[in-house]
Amino acid sequence: MTDIGLFDAIYSARALRRLKLDPVPDDVIARILDAAIRAPSAGNAQNWAFVVVRDAELRRGLGAIYRKASNIASAMYQARGRPDHLSEEQYRNLMSSGAYLWDHMGEAPVLLLPCLRERPPPPRELLPDAMQAIYARELAYTDRIRGASIYPAVQNIILACRAFGLATLITTNHIRCEEEVKTLLGIPDDVSTFALMPIGYPRGKFGPLARRPVEDVAYADRWGAAWRG
Ligand SMILES: Cc1cc2nc3c(=O)[nH]c(=O)nc-3n(C[C@H](O)[C@H](O)[C@H](O)COP(=O)(O)O)c2cc1C
Repeated sequence: MTDIGLFDAIYSARALRRLKLDPVPDDVIARILDAAIRAPSAGNAQNWAFVVVRDAELRRGLGAIYRKASNIASAMYQARGRPDHLSEEQYRNLMSSGAYLWDHMGEAPVLLLPCLRERPPPPRELLPDAMQAIYARELAYTDRIRGASIYPAVQNIILACRAFGLATLITTNHIRCEEEVKTLLGIPDDVSTFALMPIGYPRGKFGPLARRPVEDVAYADRWGAAWRG
């Protein structure tokens, strides 16, 4: 592990998609998972599970599913076009890096799938009348925050990988074909996958990360009021 500082890790943990084929030691993956489970989850439920796929045939299978799902993603990206804040070159790089992964996902030495087990809400009839009246709203709330119980763990994984000099990124395209993923890996019905993270030693370099400036995205007190840090 490098002794990279937290902020250096945050500023340089780029989405690196081109990976070497060298294996990643199991004890390193264990440390990464141990960092993942330090993340917050709603009600501290920790209803997560992490499937670490190293088997070559399963990785190939996941790669094929990712490839298929990415065709759908690609059509969506084309229809949406380049976001204004990305230059032509930045957008071209993103698209070519993304397209590289469509064909090479299955070659990553490790494919990690952060998952969540469903946490059914208490049945409506067990709740007081006032709560029963807003039950539908409560379900919508639960649905809205679901991913927030796993994506902080995903970010911990990204940063822990960075500390070990490992490339990774969050990908979600496979969710478009999730049933195939679940069948391949024997994932139970009440468990959903939230990301597919290829992990390996990078062929490219970490950071720096270019982003829209804070002044464009932060407000002081009220929406629209300029933030001057
Ligand atoms: C919710 C989410 C879904 C993503 N899904 C994919 C994906 O399916 N495939 C992919 O190659 N990258 C995916 N990404 C990675 C983004 O393209 C990447 O984070 C973004 O371009 C910023 O890259 P950078 O940190 O290197 O600047 C996803 C990112 C997020 C946050």
